[in-house]
Amino acid sequence: MGRVRVALAGVGNCASALVQGVFYYMNAEEGQEVPGLTSVRLGPYHVGDIEWVAAFDVSRDKVGKDLAEAIFSGHNVTPRFADMPPRLGVEVSPGPVLDGVAPHMWSRFNPHSLEVSLGDVVDVLRSSDADLLVNLLPVGSEEASRFYARAALEAGAGFVNGIPVFIASSEEWVRLYEERGLPLVGDDIKGQLGATVLHRTLARLMAVRGVLVEETYQLNIGGNTDFENMLAEERLASKRTSKTRAVTSVLPNGERLESEGRVRIGPSDYVPFLGNTKVAYIHIKGRSFAGFPVVLEAKLTVDDKSMFAGAMIDAIRGAKIAMDRGIGGPIYSVSAPFFKHPPLQAPSDEEAHRWFREFIEGARER
Ligand SMILES: NC(=O)c1ccc[n+]([C@@H]2O[C@H](COP(=O)([O-])OP(=O)(O)OC[C@H]3O[C@@H](n4cnc5c(N)ncnc54)[C@H](O)[C@@H]3O)[C@@H](O)[C@H]2O)c1
Repeated sequence: MGRVRVALAGVGNCASALVQGVFYYMNAEEGQEVPGLTSVRLGPYHVGDIEWVAAFDVSRDKVGKDLAEAIFSGHNVTPRFADMPPRLGVEVSPGPVLDGVAPHMWSRFNPHSLEVSLGDVVDVLRSSDADLLVNLLPVGSEEASRFYARAALEAGAGFVNGIPVFIASSEEWVRLYEERGLPLVGDDIKGQLGATVLHRTLARLMAVRGVLVEETYQLNIGGNTDFENMLAEERLASKRTSKTRAVTSVLPNGERLESEGRVRIGPSDYVPFLGNTKVAYIHIKGRSFAGFPVVLEAKLTVDDKSMFAGAMIDAIRGAKIAMDRGIGGPIYSVSAPFFKHPPLQAPSDEEAHRWFREFIEGARER
């Protein structure tokens, strides 16, 4: 107890916001307002108890560098927003490239040509005594995500899956983590006030007020490598499923709308000058009393990575609390509030946060 020892797979813009975020709130006092976090202390863990103990990447611009330097290297555009030491004493280790780098991202990510085995990664995780491995690879890294999920399992670490590859919501991985008694949390972070939570809330409001939703879309644009990577439609299948289900799951007719092709949700273009700014356009059309139309249009502009980091800091602390309690397998009450495609979707975001509070207080097992 006392510290949360975390390893990172992928040292991109999310990792930068996450690492800096812990330093930003390092000296926060109990009761202080901490926008983006549920609280300064969660169970026994202050934000500042999160410690970065290992990191993996494939980029020649990052591997071999101290994590404090790597988060500002290569393609990363997250600005410096926290006071942090110039060195963290954690060198970025090479991971295997596998399907982490799409052909159109090769020159951008600049990957190494080293052979890296499962044993190499497991050794780093073991020797760093990592409690948790957090997955922050590019969208579409199916094989590479499974590689890291396997490495965590073998090293005796829990797994927190920030990306839309289905691990925490897959029966096979759930069984493996249950057998090993290690916590599994995911999949695909739901940002603090991102497009998903806003779209879910608006759709739910319509349903609660008796409006019959007939069609909806959510178009997202941004200017970082996350969006550049997502130009490859063939890498997006899970991302679209994850974002779509997060919305249709709150509508009584959600499944039918999906099967009729009346829902379209996902990343829509890469606009380089936007950097980490993400813009989401949400459209919902429905019918109210006597069939009259209702049309709702919303535009949301946010810093994409700050949306990510707060939710992840709470998810990390929740996963470690599960580990301390010896609970292995899927942790529903940590996954539902902070992830788009959890193993068990809560009926509303308020309910998901209630699950989380009850879990932290010990009133809910998982
Ligand atoms: N609001 C958000 O930002 C948000 C929300 C939900 C999910 N996510 C997901 O989080 C992930 C990370 O986002 P990001 O903005 O940091 O992406 P990024 O493009 O900035 O960084 C990805 C990093 O992964 C590295 N990488 C590629 N293949 C690898 C491998 N095999 N092993 C180790 N490292 C590898 C790349 O070199 C790069 O440094 C993405 O999948 C993104 O969709 C982000």
